[in-house]
Amino acid sequence: MRSISLSRFLIEEQREKQVISSDLRLLIEVVASACKGIALAIGKGGLADVLGSAGSDNVQGEVQKKLDVISNEILLDANEWGGHLAGMASEEMEGPHAIPNRYPKGEYLLLFDPLDGSSNIDVNISVGTIFSVLRCPEGKEPTEAAFLQPGTQQVCAGYTVYGPNTLLVLALSDGVHAFTLNRETGNFVLTQENIQIPAETREFSINTANARHWEAPVKRYIDELQAGVDGPRAMDFNMRWVGSMVADVHRILARGGVFLYPIDEKNRAQGGKLRLMYEANPMAYVVEKAGGAATDGYQRILDLVPHRLHQRVAVMLGSKDEVERLNRYHAE
Ligand code: AHG
Ligand code: MN
Ligand code: MN
Repeated sequence: MRSISLSRFLIEEQREKQVISSDLRLLIEVVASACKGIALAIGKGGLADVLGSAGSDNVQGEVQKKLDVISNEILLDANEWGGHLAGMASEEMEGPHAIPNRYPKGEYLLLFDPLDGSSNIDVNISVGTIFSVLRCPEGKEPTEAAFLQPGTQQVCAGYTVYGPNTLLVLALSDGVHAFTLNRETGNFVLTQENIQIPAETREFSINTANARHWEAPVKRYIDELQAGVDGPRAMDFNMRWVGSMVADVHRILARGGVFLYPIDEKNRAQGGKLRLMYEANPMAYVVEKAGGAATDGYQRILDLVPHRLHQRVAVMLGSKDEVERLNRYHAE
């Protein structure tokens, strides 16, 4: 089989298909290379001083792990100097990070969750990086306002899963493609092209510890799945919850299913648990490009008009039929 590196794949997307610009190609290459650095840091585990808490809180009042901070720095350092970005924003920083004056500036904005699933780091379970790319509106400074664009405006998005292997999943305007890191050569290699989420599913993913806090439509939906062959769905379902959105969503890309982090009584005041700009939007973009759907129960995630950089949102995504059913239950 012909082995196609990420670099070659991107050059062909640019030259032959004109799906990406040269600056966007550079941006994706730099993000991928930063993710290799993060994979190396994570891989050291207890051999290096990378596990445990950093002793600080982020802007959202969450305890930062050392690897949250390390991953954030790796992404910032890698992306500052290439001249492809106007600015960056991250889960781990209160406001946008401006490109230092000594470097040229480009037209793109990069948003990321440098390390998704931090609670899984210290127990050696898959974690990831999620990223989203927008265009900086012309003539605008990369202040918070410049980033507040609906998810439909994303020019590309993706995630890396640091699991048994390191996998980069990239959604471009023409589809979703996966690249596996060859640890011997240090190259990402194309391992799956044009991924499509299987339409039929018998698997769901939700933190059932919050069941008593759910709203009625979500409760109804999950009750029906749990009723199995004896319920209205007339078939048995299976449940999986890794607790790292990247891993749970990647499973859905691989074998179908539905993932929910709904509004509940605990997170209602904040508007949900997951963050719109660097968790929900990029994942919704990937899922839609793979033939699935993503909603907050009432509206398509990608249509939501953001008001704040760290805005939270209810998320339900995956196989199209399940997401449509969830929309229907919410409308009723
Ligand atoms: P992060 O580690 O970036 O803060 O994100 C964690 C998120 C997401 O990855 C996961 O789906 C969810 O939080 C898990 O929440 P619970 O701890 O409630 O299961
Ligand atoms: Mn996250
Ligand atoms: Mn995170």
